[in-house]
Amino acid sequence: MTLRLLTAGESHGPELTAIIEGLPAGMPLAAADIDRELARRQKGYGRGGRMKIETDQVKITSGVRHGLTLGSPVTLVVENHDWKNWEKVMNAAPNPEGAAKRRITHPRPGHADLVGGMKYDFADLRNVLERSSARETTMRVAVGAVAKKMLHELGIETAALVTSLGGVAASVPERPLAEIQQLTEESAVRVADPEAEEAMIGAIDAAKKAGDTLGGTIRVIVENLPAGLGSYVEWDRKLDARLAMAVISINAFKAVSFGEGNQLGELPGSLVQDEIVWDKTHGYSRKTNHLGGMEGGMTSGMPLVINGVMKPIPTLYKPLDTVDIETKEVYQATVERSDTTAVPAAAVVMENVVATELAKVLSEQFSADSFERLKREVAAYRMTLQNW
Ligand SMILES: Cc1cc2nc3c(=O)[nH]c(=O)nc-3n(C[C@H](O)[C@H](O)[C@H](O)COP(=O)(O)O)c2cc1C
Repeated sequence: MTLRLLTAGESHGPELTAIIEGLPAGMPLAAADIDRELARRQKGYGRGGRMKIETDQVKITSGVRHGLTLGSPVTLVVENHDWKNWEKVMNAAPNPEGAAKRRITHPRPGHADLVGGMKYDFADLRNVLERSSARETTMRVAVGAVAKKMLHELGIETAALVTSLGGVAASVPERPLAEIQQLTEESAVRVADPEAEEAMIGAIDAAKKAGDTLGGTIRVIVENLPAGLGSYVEWDRKLDARLAMAVISINAFKAVSFGEGNQLGELPGSLVQDEIVWDKTHGYSRKTNHLGGMEGGMTSGMPLVINGVMKPIPTLYKPLDTVDIETKEVYQATVERSDTTAVPAAAVVMENVVATELAKVLSEQFSADSFERLKREVAAYRMTLQNW
């Protein structure tokens, strides 16, 4: 059984929705598990006004009863608190006055505005912006929170940290995952390196003053994954490929790599491949983890280390040149309320998106009707690997 997911909702519509189908029955799940992740996504130095308006809270409207999943589709709903100000503009019923109100004809470079308008034949680019907006990542996080819950119950833990922002690099300390989680949770820019934090905040302030925006790089680490998730037998079953697609699908993500990433192309093989070792207690392991826990499209049993590159936010308060789609005259791009940087928030999105893909592959490889059975099967599989 694979998990099927669908998200819906416009940025200024009444609400956002996600449906998850294929979750096992009997898995503990509370709205608080999801709200915690939604709150993490809303944090981060450099975010714009919207985060102050929205305190996202989920409503679970199907698939859970008395704190346990039923095996039926789980529906998650997050209301947009700003809806009252947008009702006329965004109403489903025809309303010519409302339609004219916040019309957009100056597409923003680097956004979906222009091509989306051309492709779907829209005279108002708001029709594109409303769905292409990163507001959608709210539901990717809500779904990811459910996936993280499943992983946690199976003994699998995740962490996300910013490794660079606006050209300022942050180190990744060699510390237990729980300490990295704590350090990043306490950081305004989700780093585990306090010196870098100060420099990053300086860079964000300078960019904001200049009306500019910043991107960065993010690392997600996942520990205690059993070896053999994914497969080498067919290209679309390779887990590294699936993870890369999931991460690239996050708004503004432009590159994905594993382990030591781009550096892997510059080093000789002797410094790249992770040598194999074996001991009675743990079974097979590797001396190093340059490859980030992926070999042949499968988890190796070492921690998964996956890196993402986020470009700078495309909406600039010092707007870039564009062309009016009616007059074809040069104009300045529309400015919708916007962030200076969203790299710390995007780290939370990436962590949840990675968790979702891992929950999907676990549901495919193990029996996923009953959560207790899934847990037993994963435990038995781990034991088999240990003795192999
Ligand atoms: C968490 C998050 C927040 C974002 N916030 C903004 C924003 O405030 N303004 C903006 O123009 N783009 C923002 N973006 C990026 C755009 O949504 C994205 O660049 C756009 O949808 C075009 O997609 P592409 O960059 O993948 O081609 C954000 C992205 C993420 C992941």
